[in-house]
Amino acid sequence: MSLIELKHVVGGYGGAPILNGVDIAIEQSDIGVIVGPNGAGKSTTLKAIFGLLKVTGGTITFAGEEITNSLPDRLVPRGLSFVPQEKNVFTSMSVEENLEMGAFTRRDDFSDTMAWVYQMFPVLKEKRRQPAGELSGGQRQMVAMGRALMSKPKLLMLDEPSAGLSPRYVIEIFETIVRVNTEGVGILMVEQNARQALAFASRGFVLANGQNRFTGTGPELIADPEVARSFLGG
Ligand SMILES: Nc1ncnc2c1ncn2[C@@H]1O[C@H](COP(=O)(O)OP(=O)(O)O)[C@@H](O)[C@H]1O
Ligand SMILES: [Mg+2]
Repeated sequence: MSLIELKHVVGGYGGAPILNGVDIAIEQSDIGVIVGPNGAGKSTTLKAIFGLLKVTGGTITFAGEEITNSLPDRLVPRGLSFVPQEKNVFTSMSVEENLEMGAFTRRDDFSDTMAWVYQMFPVLKEKRRQPAGELSGGQRQMVAMGRALMSKPKLLMLDEPSAGLSPRYVIEIFETIVRVNTEGVGILMVEQNARQALAFASRGFVLANGQNRFTGTGPELIADPEVARSFLGG
């Protein structure tokens, strides 16, 4: 059974649908990467899963339960966490306060989880008393991921985690994502650095016009001449 499964999901923002039947299935061991042209509906797909827009057709199941149109406050305690592309850290709060915010749904002692996050992101431990806004773009992205991990998710969704980062930090953030996955967290992410991200994707999805165009392992998609020509710039 898949950890998350979207079956023919249709939805949008009130006008004509943006998603016209999206199918995605990944396991907790997977790194799933969604690529496709600007406006394809990649971010909309993640928002639809997280209950941030209305799904008008199809179903979404997570960890064996249907969650179609469930709201984030129901989804986070069930093990789903989302890092949106923008405004994903509180810049005036310290790194550690940002992490504490990520544990807001928990009533138990989360010190073990914080230690786990600091072990995956050692630089955040070093800078834990600094305002998040003083960190580099790559480190701020780590704060956002760390905060999302404080709810101990089964699945972490990331919208363009490498956006705006210099090549060195793109590699670092991708390495960090692989490390998080190795710790048992499923990943479903959207990326513009498509070729680089598909290289480590166990599941890859090419979306265009709100529909699946190609599905396979990341390396299979990279090796497909039609995918390469139409979606990866040759
Ligand atoms: N909040 C919104 N309200 C209305 N339309 C939106 C909204 N956000 C995105 N769209 C539209 O949905 C389509 C898909 O957008 P998006 O999912 O953000 O694409 P991308 O694949 O680049 O992430 C675009 O045509 C965009 O203009
Ligand atoms: Mg987007």
